[in-house]
Amino acid sequence: MALSDDFLYRLRDAADAEQVVSPYVRLKRRGKTLVGLCPFHSEKTPSFTVYPESNSFYCFGCGAGGSMINFIQRIENLDYIDAVRTLADRFGLQMPEDGFDDTLSERRKRILSANRDAARFFYDTLFSENGKAGLDYWLKRGITVQTIKHFGLGYAPGGGSALTDYLHKKGYTFTELVDANLSRKSTRSNGYYDNFRNRVITPIIDVRGNVVAFGGRVLDDSKPKYVNTSDTLVFKKGQGVFALNFAKNAATDRKLIITEGYMDAISLHQAGFTNTIAGLGTALTSEQARLISRYADEVILSYDSDEAGQAATKKAISIFSQTGVKVKILKITGGKDPDEIIKEYGKERFKSIIDSGANDTEYRILTEREKYDVSTDDGKLEFLRAAVKVLATVDDGIEREIYASRLADEFSVSKDAVLTQVNDTIKSNNKKREYERNRKITQESISPRDTVNPERRDHLKAARAEERLISILLNNPDFYRKISDKISPKDFITEFNGRVYSVISSRLEEGKSIEIDFLSGSFSPDEMGRVSKFIIDGSRTVGSVGECEDCIKVILEEKNNGAKVRPSSLSDDEWAKKMNELKMKKNT
Ligand code: UTP
Ligand code: MN
Repeated sequence: MALSDDFLYRLRDAADAEQVVSPYVRLKRRGKTLVGLCPFHSEKTPSFTVYPESNSFYCFGCGAGGSMINFIQRIENLDYIDAVRTLADRFGLQMPEDGFDDTLSERRKRILSANRDAARFFYDTLFSENGKAGLDYWLKRGITVQTIKHFGLGYAPGGGSALTDYLHKKGYTFTELVDANLSRKSTRSNGYYDNFRNRVITPIIDVRGNVVAFGGRVLDDSKPKYVNTSDTLVFKKGQGVFALNFAKNAATDRKLIITEGYMDAISLHQAGFTNTIAGLGTALTSEQARLISRYADEVILSYDSDEAGQAATKKAISIFSQTGVKVKILKITGGKDPDEIIKEYGKERFKSIIDSGANDTEYRILTEREKYDVSTDDGKLEFLRAAVKVLATVDDGIEREIYASRLADEFSVSKDAVLTQVNDTIKSNNKKREYERNRKITQESISPRDTVNPERRDHLKAARAEERLISILLNNPDFYRKISDKISPKDFITEFNGRVYSVISSRLEEGKSIEIDFLSGSFSPDEMGRVSKFIIDGSRTVGSVGECEDCIKVILEEKNNGAKVRPSSLSDDEWAKKMNELKMKKNT
């Protein structure tokens, strides 16, 4: 990666860590560092840490870490060079012109550009002679021209290849159009045809304003009802969220309404509920939940009233419970989905549904209640037991009190009795959780799955010495000179640590900096998490040249002990085969 150090220095000085991270994570100051809830894994207490001094980050929960470039790589799902470009753009630096490989990033750009042109084409077609059927459809559904303009809605003409021909003439290759999932190759002829035909079109726009995908609906009742862009280099279904580009600005109180489909979302926006978003036809994923949690502290689930919608609601509750986002559930009655409610009864009705929306505790208690016949003593008892279990999962003490009082009143039992039961359940849950945690830790120490350095567990002693040596060097580069002739990267037992040492030593040989910004192009984001850990570990203790020498001694001893043979990396079968081979050799 031929980015000059000079450029990376300037980028680091410009792209201040707090400024880079804070649009994505709410940070609180803690001493010299800033902490917040990690955007890369689900957690309720902050272990994500930003180090303004070294302009880096590290999460003690999931091990993500690195420079600000690595942060952008992960959070925006970009490759290295695109992450650099994003930061450079954001902080007003000119990218150097020459010498880096950016074919992938070039392909992404072409797809985004083709999508933008396609969106324009669908929109223009809608208002042309050819688009009359589409425009009629939108208007018949009560979508106004203003809403059409706002969302850039459109129409894909029937026939076969109108869009493909148009974009090809504009200079896009067929490969690019297939890459973008706008065109398909015909199996019968040599030609290409449009993926979206005779459908009304909704462009899916991400929070940065890129047109990343399209959804197309038929104009009648034929099947399939919807055709959506499948996964491309710029779009993953399970990650996309519709209308978040608008809703994030509307949600000044950090509340978002979530609907099942984008049709509902469009209809709610038109009715003034501009803080509405929608998934893209898949069950809510934890990636989407994390994206949403950047903009909301509370979500109002407004899924369809049918069975599928209710199942989706339950799934969403459980996913959001891992992110610390509060959930309210709308009980849609009198229609299948929000769009129908609004059309049938107007927006006032929907507003009142929102205001009376149950939160998830209430929803879960009600769901339990439906399971039992509370007119009998047995049923009452069983329901109360189930309700206690629900309350034991509520973090907020006051909320628990409120529901305990309600239950107590309704079933003429004492509130204290209910609360005692709840507290006992919480205690026993905590114990179970602790047991589970300990079991996990024990299990991990028996068989740790380390994807960054898979050899580590077979060579723990050597790996620890390697890591300590690297940690000390990263924090004391001046020690390098004194130990460099005692060890070389080839002496390292584990490949990953050897590679880290090799990158460090070759930079130090050239008198270059080994600060994190200059390493981030040499390793994958996961690997950079480990490198950050080395830096942090090393900064917590004082290292010395003497300790480096001790580490080197251990590494070399392990090497001489034949650690490179890695006996445990052979399965029993492989081992037997090897022994056989040796025997055969002896015999010949
Ligand atoms: P619905 O069937 O509930 O559609 O699917 P809808 O939003 O009410 O649409 P209208 O009102 O009939 O026009 C909800 C979502 O499920 C996905 C789409 O993303 C849709 O927005 N879906 C549905 C598909 O991807 N494919 C399908 O064939 C149907
Ligand atoms: Mn609908």
